Amino acid sequence: MKKVKDKPHYGYYALPIMTGLSALIILAGILVFLFAMQIIGIIILAFGVYLVASYGISIHFMRQDRAEDVSEILKLAGNENVLDVGCGLGKLTNGIAKQLNDGKVIGIDIWDKMEIPGNSAEKAYENAAIEGVRDKVEFSFGNVLDIPFPDTSFDLVASSSVLNNLNSIDEKLNALEEIYRVTKPGGRFLLVEPLRNLRGFFTFTPFAFWMLLKKDDWIRLLQQSNFEVHDYLYRYGVGWFVVERSISAKSV
Ligand SMILES: C[S@@+](CC[C@H](N)C(=O)[O-])C[C@H]1O[C@@H](n2cnc3c(N)ncnc32)[C@H](O)[C@@H]1O
Repeated sequence: MKKVKDKPHYGYYALPIMTGLSALIILAGILVFLFAMQIIGIIILAFGVYLVASYGISIHFMRQDRAEDVSEILKLAGNENVLDVGCGLGKLTNGIAKQLNDGKVIGIDIWDKMEIPGNSAEKAYENAAIEGVRDKVEFSFGNVLDIPFPDTSFDLVASSSVLNNLNSIDEKLNALEEIYRVTKPGGRFLLVEPLRNLRGFFTFTPFAFWMLLKKDDWIRLLQQSNFEVHDYLYRYGVGWFVVERSISAKSV
């Protein structure tokens, strides 16, 4: 009989890439140590060990066995129609669903398995059932660069650790334009992203750290996309931005 899980798990981000990369660097360090220059081998090995340690620390701070607690930053009426873009296994989706009564959250994702092992709608539904919000969520395939919903569909759009991973500033702006398009006038967008700052330097792997943007960079991009910035919260190296598509703002 299949064992029924009693705890959700939201997956370790970039685990396959980090495991492969660290193993390669450590192996290269050993080979260089044995067959070439010992001192260079030790430096390469030390870097490999540093990668493993920094990934371990970032995993510890991810707290992947619980849904995101949004109560501190988002005050919801409970009947909102919500979209979570790049929802993964539903960490933010389920956290928002917990604040709803008759509202609903739709999570869309391209289910990239290199970003999260086992990334799928099935696993996201499994987590939602464990969290007790199965009836308030829906998961389906969808790309944030081409969101499969009509204009002004949602009271709230949310996104956590997705826009940062897009390849360029142009792609980030493209995603923000799409998010703006599907947000109702007067509706909000919650952006959750790890930030490039001193804390991030010690808690994220060097590769992840150099991809991060600073708080002011995100604010600039949000404003450039016509959002009005309302609230900001900083928690465990991560910035939480709550912005609004104003009622009088232009349509796209
Ligand atoms: C680091 S994970 C974060 C998942 C989730 N938001 C969370 O907080 O646990 C990034 C997610 O973004 C998804 N993703 C990447 N590019 C995407 C795109 N263009 N459209 C939609 N989802 C995307 C990946 O498949 C992955 O599930």
